[in-house]
Amino acid sequence: MPDLFEPVSFAHGPSSPNRVMLSPLTNQQSHADGTLSDEELRWLVMRAEGGFGITTTCASHVLERGQGFPGQLGCFSDDHLPGLTRLASAIHERGSRALVQLHHAGLRSPVELIGHSPVAPFDDAETGARALTTSEVEGVVEAFAVAALRCRRAGFDGVEIHGAHGYLLCQFLDPERNRRDDRYGGTFEDRSRIFLEIVEAVRERCGGDFLLAVRLSPERFGVSTAEVVELYRRLVATGEVDLIDLSLWDVFKEAIDPAFEGRRLVDVFAELDRGTVRLGAAGKLYAGADLRAALDAGLDLVVLGRAAITNHDFPRRVEADPDAAMRALPVRVETLHAEGLSDRFVDYMRGWRGFVAEEPGPAVHGPRGGRGGT
Ligand SMILES: Cc1cc2nc3c(=O)[nH]c(=O)nc-3n(C[C@H](O)[C@H](O)[C@H](O)COP(=O)(O)O)c2cc1C
Repeated sequence: MPDLFEPVSFAHGPSSPNRVMLSPLTNQQSHADGTLSDEELRWLVMRAEGGFGITTTCASHVLERGQGFPGQLGCFSDDHLPGLTRLASAIHERGSRALVQLHHAGLRSPVELIGHSPVAPFDDAETGARALTTSEVEGVVEAFAVAALRCRRAGFDGVEIHGAHGYLLCQFLDPERNRRDDRYGGTFEDRSRIFLEIVEAVRERCGGDFLLAVRLSPERFGVSTAEVVELYRRLVATGEVDLIDLSLWDVFKEAIDPAFEGRRLVDVFAELDRGTVRLGAAGKLYAGADLRAALDAGLDLVVLGRAAITNHDFPRRVEADPDAAMRALPVRVETLHAEGLSDRFVDYMRGWRGFVAEEPGPAVHGPRGGRGGT
């Protein structure tokens, strides 16, 4: 089992100084036009300083109409370049690698945010989303590639393609709903095509020394676990992907799908041939022992969300004390401010049950007590 604090290399792009990666975390701290704010910069730079080997941004929209959240960091225009450049260089100055998570919310773009109905692989009566035309899907592939190149120009070491959580790319995978009759829907091969085209386009545009990660949800969100296993195999087979980041919500959970009954999802994926791909996963890694157990399960690196919000220097703490754990939930507002969260981010965290303590007082949950929304 590798040590958490030994470097990890990638097939393309530079190594990470350790095996602890900051999970992409929406924080709503950017300006309304998607440009970087000082608050967003501070929050991320503190994590780079706190010892995360890789510092990943929040989901960042590659097209204006693919925005999913207010205050989202954008990467769809050259207007975003100066802020992205400042961010990449500030992360690098702290010795961390810098990734942007590339995102399109698809039918989950709120109408009130984007000003018109969202777009998706298929029509959706509930949200008013309309199906993208074939040439618009090609435009989405191009937008991911152009945004990746913009991130590269800004100095980032790589990008992570957000293929998880029911956003646009994940919507394409849905066997029930994506019944398009062009080459992007219907059969599994066609439903998964957009992932492979984006990988190819990003690699072609950004060259061979740029880190390319893909985030996948292996269950829920309308996907079939068996199909995500097959997609994983296909992504590995391209030889172009450096990291697959599994969003598990609990790294040690068992699969829901009866075909994988009794098996932990992490084992299902860790046992597959991963070629030159590195495998990471996120979900309830809240203490040093959890991080080591995750590597022991066969992961190459660990991906931390909530522990990074409560403790900007969680990696350094675990390095100093293997038994270190994240701060107990709920956390007081003053503490979150001291950890680099602005009022806006704290407000957003109020939507994650059990996270923010409204009244000063003793903590009522242990580290595993707070379970946020999706
Ligand atoms: C406040 C918050 C914002 C999140 N934003 C994103 C996001 O922008 N992109 C993404 O892929 N996942 C997002 N997630 C999921 C996390 O990256 C992570 O996978 C999840 O929180 C599980 O890890 P944890 O148990 O360590 O928090 C978010 C989670 C939280 C708590």
